Amino acid sequence: MLIDNLKESAAFIRSRIGDDIPEIAIVLGSGLGDLAEQLSDPVYIPYSEIPHFPVSTVPGHKGRLAVGKLEGRKVLCMQGRFHYYEGWTLQQCVYPIQTFRVLGIWNLMLTNAAGCVNTSWQPGDLMVITDHIKLMGDSPMRGANCDELGPRFFDMSHVYDRELQKTAHQAAAKQGFSLREGIYMLFGGPQFETPAEVRLARALGADAVGMSTVPEAIAASQMSMKVLGISCLTNMGAGILDQPLNHEEVLETGERVKNRFQALVREIISKWPL
Ligand code: HPA
Repeated sequence: MLIDNLKESAAFIRSRIGDDIPEIAIVLGSGLGDLAEQLSDPVYIPYSEIPHFPVSTVPGHKGRLAVGKLEGRKVLCMQGRFHYYEGWTLQQCVYPIQTFRVLGIWNLMLTNAAGCVNTSWQPGDLMVITDHIKLMGDSPMRGANCDELGPRFFDMSHVYDRELQKTAHQAAAKQGFSLREGIYMLFGGPQFETPAEVRLARALGADAVGMSTVPEAIAASQMSMKVLGISCLTNMGAGILDQPLNHEEVLETGERVKNRFQALVREIISKWPL
């Protein structure tokens, strides 16, 4: 049973970190992994050691939890997440999030790199996610429902917490810049979208496209967690500029924005209403 596995995973993490349970879980997207190395009093737990956790077989993949203090607050960071395009089921992609909730964590910050669909914006902009679109047929909640986690049919009207969005804007202002806000649309990847798909996304009201975050937000929503999502818009969506997309551009922009993104995350954590 899922709940039994989750309890074992959570108990294992607890055996490593003690009874002082982190208040906020942070999923570190591309370009933010460094933050996990900046925690004070860190405890690192490789995914491979946690019972039932999915384990990436990609060489060089840093798959571990980093638990410690950031801005004086106890946080748990996922350094490396699980993507659908790697071959994981959506259920496997959200298993860590469900584990965090069973561990006793109610707050979740999801970060990612995304393609920019809004033509008035630029690569390097940071966006608060206000809502999402998932047209992919699959759902992480497909299959038998785990009633201990939440109801079979659950509301998705406020997946991304309004108060936390305000906190994010205030944190950015304090750091001397402003955040975009908009709608993130999930694509399965690993291939980037076609120009027609990016036009479709825009026509549907999306501002960004990406390959993560939505499954995790759905799982968190079922469990009534408070969710904040922030995207680093690393490139213009396919077809907007007369140039092909490539992963290097995503990495380069991530690198260029890294300091601002990290400072933002720190400021948000210090202001996070608990
Ligand atoms: N599309 C999907 N995912 C992405 C992109 C993109 O253009 N850039 C970074 N992640």
